[in-house]
Amino acid sequence: MIRTGVIGYPVQHSLSPLIHNYWIDKYGFDGHYGTHEIAPSDLSDTLKKLSTEYAGFNVTIPHKQRVIELCDTLDDTAQKIGAVNTLVIDSGKIHGTNTDSFGFAENIRQAEFRVDINGTALVLGAGGAARGVIHALQTLGFQKIKIANRTLEKTQAIAKDFGVEAIEWKKREQAGADISLLVNTTSLGMTGQLPLEYDLHNLPPGAAVCDIVYKPLYTVLLHEAQKRGLGVITGIGMLLHQARPAFAAWYGTMPDIDENLQRKIDEALA
Ligand code: ATR
Repeated sequence: MIRTGVIGYPVQHSLSPLIHNYWIDKYGFDGHYGTHEIAPSDLSDTLKKLSTEYAGFNVTIPHKQRVIELCDTLDDTAQKIGAVNTLVIDSGKIHGTNTDSFGFAENIRQAEFRVDINGTALVLGAGGAARGVIHALQTLGFQKIKIANRTLEKTQAIAKDFGVEAIEWKKREQAGADISLLVNTTSLGMTGQLPLEYDLHNLPPGAAVCDIVYKPLYTVLLHEAQKRGLGVITGIGMLLHQARPAFAAWYGTMPDIDENLQRKIDEALA
């Protein structure tokens, strides 16, 4: 029995159990993917206990950075991003990696229209998610990347780490005038949060807008982008694609996102 799961706080609403248990059934593995709600103060002790019985975990809010110090090894991607979303446990040793960058890049590659990677991308937000997205944009080959965030120090820190351009938050709309892709990585627009205020009039007509928020699937930002006839990429593809290499690391098979899984996810989000 290969046991896996997600650790976070809170974690009840995670869609990861639906995704991974679907693949466990589809590919016929003897396994189970569960949820483990772990308060930050218990992370170290609980993870040590669980690591004797589990093959790995996904890591979600708020543990993606804290868990780094609990890993025995980290791969290059996790080091560069500075966050871990996947743990692979082998003989009690915890290996940390990050599949969010892969998930974001695949979601852009598989968009129904071509995103111009020879153009400029503008990333809004400077949390852990922004670091994964910028890593992915660089992997995709984006020629120029700009980042804007409410707190300037965080913008500047990421700009320095990744060699991208820092933009003041109040200049975020002006900075959209020459871009081919806008990405929201802030928590704004999520159910229960304020919408992201961003006037899309400045964006070139061929630009695409991607929101990594997937609850709701179509945020106010994406609705506005649709109205303006811009290309729209929702956040659910990133969630689905980041799950694939994690599953492969634990179960040894790179899974597909088939129509059945897509339908189950659509139902869960409806
Ligand atoms: P994650 O790991 O998912 O990126 P996070 O680290 O909490 O989550 O980051 C949340 C992001 O949303 C940050 O960029 C935050 O901006 P600050 O760095 O200024 O806090 C952004 N954010 C949250 N609320 C915001 C608001 N009301 N206006 C602008 N940005 C906001």
